[in-house]
Amino acid sequence: MVHSPEVNLRLIPLHLSQDRIIIRQPDDWHLHLRDGDVLKTVVAPTSRVFRRAIVMPNLQPPITSVQSAIDYRQRIMHAVPDGDLFTPLMTAYLTDDLSEEVLREGFARGVFFAAKLYPANSTTNSAAGVTSLENIYTAVETMEEIGMPLLIHGEVADIEIDIFDREAVFIESHLQPLLKRFPSLRVVLEHITTAEAVEYVQNSSAKLAATITPHHLHINRNALFNGGLRSDFFCLPVAKREHHRMALRRAATSGEPCFFLGTDSAPHLREFKESSCGCAGIFNAPNAIESYAQVFEEEEALDRLEDFSSVFGPNFYGLPVNKEIISLVKKPHVVSLRFELKKAETSFEYLAPFHAGETLNWSFDPNFS
Ligand code: DOR
Ligand code: ZN
Repeated sequence: MVHSPEVNLRLIPLHLSQDRIIIRQPDDWHLHLRDGDVLKTVVAPTSRVFRRAIVMPNLQPPITSVQSAIDYRQRIMHAVPDGDLFTPLMTAYLTDDLSEEVLREGFARGVFFAAKLYPANSTTNSAAGVTSLENIYTAVETMEEIGMPLLIHGEVADIEIDIFDREAVFIESHLQPLLKRFPSLRVVLEHITTAEAVEYVQNSSAKLAATITPHHLHINRNALFNGGLRSDFFCLPVAKREHHRMALRRAATSGEPCFFLGTDSAPHLREFKESSCGCAGIFNAPNAIESYAQVFEEEEALDRLEDFSSVFGPNFYGLPVNKEIISLVKKPHVVSLRFELKKAETSFEYLAPFHAGETLNWSFDPNFS
């Protein structure tokens, strides 16, 4: 793999008019596909739009061996509908004692694209995550040496720390020292949610980038409590105050190459969302590109959608941009309330997509090529 941030020149969108957008095919640089019946259902909405996706390893048990990543990749490929071209990029789940040999081997064989750091107990299926960064120094040193990117869930898991401050505290007390210790390490701070994160990434070296989700561009923390407790809007990091959302919108539409698309689409069955201890995660895959397009339109930055969706990510990772193109048409559509599982056995076995019941202005055009 070539790791050069300058592989692709900045591109002018292929076509932009009042009623049609044509862009190079985007990639999703942060995605949860799960396993089993959910996997079989959720690959299609991603693979019909996105050419590649970085697949998160927080399964139960997590992906901690080269073989488990190979097997998982195969299960994903089996779930890709005929006719879709889709490449899953696999990740290793860092634990306190994942050996550097596993990382070396998986990276050298082209199985692991990157490794993911979950601070232990910071989010869904993170119990086996890292309890102290010191425990992974040797692994991270190896990653720096071989050019393997480190993807970070950037929140402290300390329950003494206010949940709305956990990202900013992580940046100051953990990310900053880590980057100082490993200056050549390529790092992505995933799903940023705060003005502090935006500023930190902007002022760091080109070795640090951040992904931004559609939901953090659309909702602030009020959405969680609008007329009642709305678990569909619960994700981690949790949405913050309005001024943070505004900072994220400015960052995403700024044209700065350090910010790019990563949906963090994270499906949880209805029964696990509607619960006294509901899971964190928003399933946005069915309307992700339309959701981003709406934001870019509202910010009068549609001419920058392609860079954010299809260019800055490949540039950061040293990959070519996609040759394929996709198109969106200005055709408002109401997002359905339910996304049915292929093999649902109970009435609770469905997923509620982000924007359920809302109208989005742009629609993906499946017949365009
Ligand atoms: O909201 C989230 N859901 N945030 C994460 O970090 C994990 C994800 C999941 O796996 O459900
Ligand atoms: Zn995630």
